[in-house]
Amino acid sequence: MTKNIIEVSNLTTAYKDRIIQSNISFSVRHSEIFGILGGSGSGKSTLLSTMIYLKAPLSGSIKILDKDIWKIDKNKRSVILRHCGVLFQFGALFSSLNVLDNVGIMLEEYSSYPKKIIDEIAEYFLNIVGLPSFVKNMYPYELSGGMKKRVGLARALVFNPKILFLDEPTSGLDPQSAENFDKLILKLRDYFKLTVVMVTHDLDSIKDATDRFILLGEGKILFIGNLDEFKHSNVSNNNLLKSKRGERIWKEE
Ligand SMILES: Nc1ncnc2c1ncn2[C@@H]1O[C@H](COP(=O)(O)OP(=O)(O)OP(=O)(O)O)[C@@H](O)[C@H]1O
Ligand SMILES: [Mg+2]
Repeated sequence: MTKNIIEVSNLTTAYKDRIIQSNISFSVRHSEIFGILGGSGSGKSTLLSTMIYLKAPLSGSIKILDKDIWKIDKNKRSVILRHCGVLFQFGALFSSLNVLDNVGIMLEEYSSYPKKIIDEIAEYFLNIVGLPSFVKNMYPYELSGGMKKRVGLARALVFNPKILFLDEPTSGLDPQSAENFDKLILKLRDYFKLTVVMVTHDLDSIKDATDRFILLGEGKILFIGNLDEFKHSNVSNNNLLKSKRGERIWKEE
């Protein structure tokens, strides 16, 4: 039996009295790349924020590694959250810090390692995400969009997380860079045995990188399963679903 790493049960999210998701449930299995797909405003980032303890749910539960993160005490929660690496939608790099310090900042905050070791760890992960060594001394404004995403990814990896949460990792990238980024995610999943939750509205990422995905819309889960199951479902007739990298991946017209 495949072990569930994340279990979302009867979750409802809202901003004030505006419901974003109502009563949704799904599980993420060990070592899978799980996509959260949906149009702009469908609540993908809201769901992700609730899963990483940034936004409280209205009701329902989120279990990560068997612990209900919104119910357990602070100490237990920090242990769980330490297993979660996050790449935010808008990069969130500090413009005043160079790349090396941007990657090492969480270690500066939450570990007692000396600076030299922190720099070495940061350099190791910059290399892992495929950035050349000279990038470490550069500042965010000197980087391309794809490089910024990779720096953000390196930062998300420094605590050797079990789970990686990615919010729109390929948005704003040209099709080739987006494809390369998806390949990197697959490589990292295999190398570090990661479970990955990837928010995206990029259908090519769904096709190239995810094992299963949910499609969010109308405040609920319109579909859950893999691409093959999707192609044979009624939902795939939806005209909103178009692939950017050329190939049509849904039903033939
Ligand atoms: N802090 C907030 N306060 C109030 N409403 C919000 C807030 N953040 C998001 N919303 C609303 O919640 C809805 C879902 O937003 P969310 O950012 O989760 O969508 P998304 O699917 O991630 O969209 P995108 O693809 O554009 O990133 C939107 O209607 C948005 O206006
Ligand atoms: Mg979003």
